[in-house]
Amino acid sequence: MQPKDNIVHLPVYQPGKPIEDVKRELGLSDVVKLASNENPFGSSELAKAAAIRELEQVHLYPDGASVELTAVLADKLGVKPEQLIFGTGSSDIILMLARAFFAPGDETVMADETFSQYKHNAEIENARIVEVPLKDGKHDLPAMLAQITDKTKIVWVCNPNNPTGTIVNEEELTAFLDKVPAHVLVVLDEAYCEFVEQADFPDGVRLLEKYRNLVVLRTFSKIYGLSSLRIGYGVGHPDVIRYINQVREPFNTTRMAQAAAKASLSDEDFIAHCRKENRAGIDYMTGEFDRLGLRYFPAYGNFIMVDVERPSPEVFDALLRKGIIVRSRWTHYPSHIRVSVGTREQNEKFIEALKQVLREAAVRG
Ligand SMILES: Cc1ncc(COP(=O)(O)O)c(C=O)c1O
Repeated sequence: MQPKDNIVHLPVYQPGKPIEDVKRELGLSDVVKLASNENPFGSSELAKAAAIRELEQVHLYPDGASVELTAVLADKLGVKPEQLIFGTGSSDIILMLARAFFAPGDETVMADETFSQYKHNAEIENARIVEVPLKDGKHDLPAMLAQITDKTKIVWVCNPNNPTGTIVNEEELTAFLDKVPAHVLVVLDEAYCEFVEQADFPDGVRLLEKYRNLVVLRTFSKIYGLSSLRIGYGVGHPDVIRYINQVREPFNTTRMAQAAAKASLSDEDFIAHCRKENRAGIDYMTGEFDRLGLRYFPAYGNFIMVDVERPSPEVFDALLRKGIIVRSRWTHYPSHIRVSVGTREQNEKFIEALKQVLREAAVRG
């Protein structure tokens, strides 16, 4: 048996380490996971109740086209229903975009440290990947523009960027979109947009009126707290959405996910609460980093990338032994860790553990 040549070397996706594994491996009873940018405040009670109600129908296939959810979301976003597509998380939309658009040899442009699934799916489709270095942790849009050729199919812009947490503002983005040739699709991944409070942060959905070659990705996994139900969406021009729909698995989102997502959209209070708590968490953690003299990228999502000034796997392991799971091993940032914002108590535990780890490392020299 021989798979496609281009997938032989592909790594299996490494998620944040599960809490259960760490408890078992290290014999710890109290473990805090700040590794996957989940919502530490859970999800809307309305969403949970809706998912539980749908369990009664679990023996029936879901509505493959998510008609009810589409109608509610289209109304909320001010777009036409045919501009929306749902996926098993926004990861599924990334996969479908790659499947629908890349032929072997096509080119795709992305930042050199960004959400791993753009590269992963492009590699599966045998596209040629052009990675452009981030500048101060931020997408360098003029440099990305300069890499576009006749063969470029998709440019990926992650805003805020995972893992650095930085944003490009409206002026920077529109100056870029104005120059991207019409044959190139720009995928604007806004997985963390609901956390951003910056006035000049662009609203990708509003930009769709002007730019037909733009697709915006969003998810219910982050501020909506529905990670395990796996539901996200894409918004774009109806022609582009139709192509993506043509490669979609028939029943890619579940009844429970659709119902919970729909209910979530009506719970503005929950979202406002999460945004406020997240901001307080960022202010607290960055204040502590300042006191420790550690540098970090400006954080606009629900995570912070901080330079711990030591090899990050070492700090990761030391934190793990104290029951704190973060993310490390970034190719271009070997001394940075990425930490998700948790509850106040979790954030305090993390800071306390980090202080101890850095103190112990300083003693060792
Ligand atoms: C930037 C970005 N895009 C997309 C996703 C995918 O999320 P999901 O598939 O859960 O919607 C993530 C998840 O961490 C992410 O960080």
